Amino acid sequence: MKKKILITGSTDGIGKLAALKLAEAGHEVILHGRNAQKLEAVIKEIKATAPQAEPSGYLADFSDLSSVSVMANAIKADHSTLDVVINNAGIFLTESPRNAAGMDIRFLVNYLAPVLLTQELLPLLHASQHGMVINLSSAAQAPVSLPALKGDQALSDQEAYAQSKLALTMWNHQMAHQEKDIPFIAVNPGSLLNTKMAIEAYGKHWSPADKGADIIVALATESEHTAMSGKYFDNDRGSYGPAHTDATDQAQIEELILLTNQLLSNI
Ligand SMILES: NC(=O)c1ccc[n+]([C@@H]2O[C@H](COP(=O)([O-])OP(=O)(O)OC[C@H]3O[C@@H](n4cnc5c(N)ncnc54)[C@H](OP(=O)(O)O)[C@@H]3O)[C@@H](O)[C@H]2O)c1
Repeated sequence: MKKKILITGSTDGIGKLAALKLAEAGHEVILHGRNAQKLEAVIKEIKATAPQAEPSGYLADFSDLSSVSVMANAIKADHSTLDVVINNAGIFLTESPRNAAGMDIRFLVNYLAPVLLTQELLPLLHASQHGMVINLSSAAQAPVSLPALKGDQALSDQEAYAQSKLALTMWNHQMAHQEKDIPFIAVNPGSLLNTKMAIEAYGKHWSPADKGADIIVALATESEHTAMSGKYFDNDRGSYGPAHTDATDQAQIEELILLTNQLLSNI
């Protein structure tokens, strides 16, 4: 079945590769990036490799949540349904790790932006018979400091990244309970894949980027995964498996969601 698939952060890395593979397989891909030239270049590349494809693209800087809202509204104006949202855009190292309000860019881009975007796009997912959300987690997961999420405590790059990824995985668990008709799947696409992020952060890679792109494509298109809502696919193991214990800790999830809703209500 051909699907309409939004993939954020599709101007580089595994998101771009997954978008190319999905378009080649005949799916309608909706791209996203923060850089207009890179976004235009990916649209051209997809049209060149998959001439039947009609990719579209949206620009938004996910470190600015008002930009995420504008993008969500533009998508809602252009589309009445969406089959899959792949929350892939992510950041590890950045020159300015905190914004003017003191909030960490990793929490904004890797956690709050996908939460906001997905909430805004839920009606489009419900309008599809196959609505599904895939959240890019990581093997790097660390207990979330609520003061740090609020911007009251500075974290190291590794801590901020790992906390943002566990936050997204906890929210994935919550959403699977809340949205019974929409599968929510968290995935570690594999550790140290050969992308800009891994090379900048660790100066090395263990696996090709295709490993991460291929699991994203499989989750978005293979029907068996729709029965796995709330689960965590660990592509280091090549199977579903346990995430950090906090990812299913209901008391901690409730505290996280409470603060998340407060932060998002201020936009
Ligand atoms: N690579 C790994 O080993 C690995 C392991 C575990 C999990 N992951 C996760 O997989 C996902 C993709 O990672 P990757 O390795 O493919 O990284 P990447 O090559 O650096 O690509 C990241 C994508 O996110 C976009 N992005 C970054 N900051 C943004 C912002 N402020 N606003 C909007 N878009 C932004 C980038 O845009 P630009 O093109 O403009 O930079 C790019 O399109 C991430 O969520 C990452 O955490 C990766």
